[in-house]
Amino acid sequence: MTKILFVTSEAYPLMKTGGLADVSGSLPIALKALGHDVRILMPAYADTLASLGPLHAHHVPQAHSQLDILEGLLPGSDVPIWLVAHPGTFDRPGNPYLSPEGKSWTDNAERFALLSRVAVEVAMNRVGFRWKPDIVHCNDWQTGLVPALLGDEPKRPATVFTIHNLAYQGNFPRAMFRQLGLPERFWSHHALEFYDQLSFIKGGLVYADRISTVSPTYAREIQGKEFGCGLEGLLAQRQDRLHGILNGIDEQAWDPARDPYLPHPFEASDLSGKTRVKSALQKRSGLAQDAKVAVIALVGRLVQQKGIDLVIDVLPQLLELPLQLVILGSGERKYEHALEQWTRLYPDRIALTLGYDEALAHLIEAGADLFLMPSRFEPCGLNQMYSQRYGAAPIVRSVGGLADTVEDASAENLAAGTASGIAFAEAKHEALLQAVYRALELFHDKPVWEQIQRTGMNKDFSWHKSARQYEAVYALAEQDCQALGHSMLARGALA
Ligand code: ADP
Ligand code: GLC
Repeated sequence: MTKILFVTSEAYPLMKTGGLADVSGSLPIALKALGHDVRILMPAYADTLASLGPLHAHHVPQAHSQLDILEGLLPGSDVPIWLVAHPGTFDRPGNPYLSPEGKSWTDNAERFALLSRVAVEVAMNRVGFRWKPDIVHCNDWQTGLVPALLGDEPKRPATVFTIHNLAYQGNFPRAMFRQLGLPERFWSHHALEFYDQLSFIKGGLVYADRISTVSPTYAREIQGKEFGCGLEGLLAQRQDRLHGILNGIDEQAWDPARDPYLPHPFEASDLSGKTRVKSALQKRSGLAQDAKVAVIALVGRLVQQKGIDLVIDVLPQLLELPLQLVILGSGERKYEHALEQWTRLYPDRIALTLGYDEALAHLIEAGADLFLMPSRFEPCGLNQMYSQRYGAAPIVRSVGGLADTVEDASAENLAAGTASGIAFAEAKHEALLQAVYRALELFHDKPVWEQIQRTGMNKDFSWHKSARQYEAVYALAEQDCQALGHSMLARGALA
């Protein structure tokens, strides 16, 4: 049994802006099921507190302000959760990183430095919990300072840092480095400095005993220039400590046979319910209730990462085809605006919902025939796994986790019975269009289509295998941490 402190800035259902929340809300449960003692540490956002009942507050002594850790359970589980409450810091409603104007909160560096400092105190068993983890598992830049700050502590726990998205690095001006009072020796390109800025993510990449990312392909990609975001050199240098572990999905929350958001349940052996859900989705979306026309869906953040610009560019050609588009998302205003305009012109062909809607996301995955995910890069991606589980074959660009989770409907894969979607290589208009043409051809070939659907629905996307891989990485991190401790002791003895 390993004691794991899982530090994150979001966890479903307490706070979610993307896949990090899905992972943080399900991996700890899978680890607990393997017999480990896992506790989650995250900020006490206003909306998080509003969704929970009264919690036990544990006061943490601090010089100038009130700092509490609120104790509860991750809803629907027996995984303990500790919420860092600090007036004026985390208790704002809405998005955890962005103000209502869509700009980063100006004090994000201070906010997530505080989360990281509290994590260090908890990790060193200095807040009175009488619990010291063996492993501190950090996630994304918001927790990047934890491995750096813990590095100074004698008898520290081992650290693992997971990259969910290397493009978000938590970079701040040099003045912030001073303002946070970080040790001077961290101001070096071997440490937290990145082109004259303070980089939170480097704290994880440089100092964690082990680094992981959320798919094997992305683990390779980030060691190269195209996907490395300037950090490829560092990652290549630490490649013997870098692991690619595919995300799992919460198979209970995403189960077409038991999903409370669906008007009709269905499963691989009987897809009649799916036909009815498709009709319900078309009705709700104001589209013709026609079983023969392909419904292509897109759910996600409307940002360049997801290739939404490619989709918008090829809309004129897509709209010449016999298909309906159902889109749910929010993101950059320019993409939202372009989609709104197209929807106004073609209200009988495009159904657009701007915003965040968990229930609708489930209905769309279940009612769609095809699911579009032409990402420019994708560390893992969860939607393509949800869609396969729900019998909506994904059309994906072969990058990152998309390459690792979708088997293209090539003649070979079709013959082998492994095809579960349509993959294309280049982030180019023509490649995307060719993939859609191919998808529609397959869709109209019913026996082949049903085989693709069933193959996707029967795939194992559970956490079990991945949680075992994290166990192995934790063991390696503990070995590295011990070895480092010994060598430091030896050096101290020599000095
Ligand atoms: P990322 O984390 O890069 O946004 P993922 O595919 O890993 O991408 O995870 C996205 C998660 O957020 C999925 O659970 C997806 O269903 C959900 N999601 C994204 N946008 C929306 C939205 N507008 N409404 C509901 N759920 C959404
Ligand atoms: C990030 C990535 C996404 C991944 C998610 C969870 O948001 O963009 O690909 O699935 O984290 O790891």
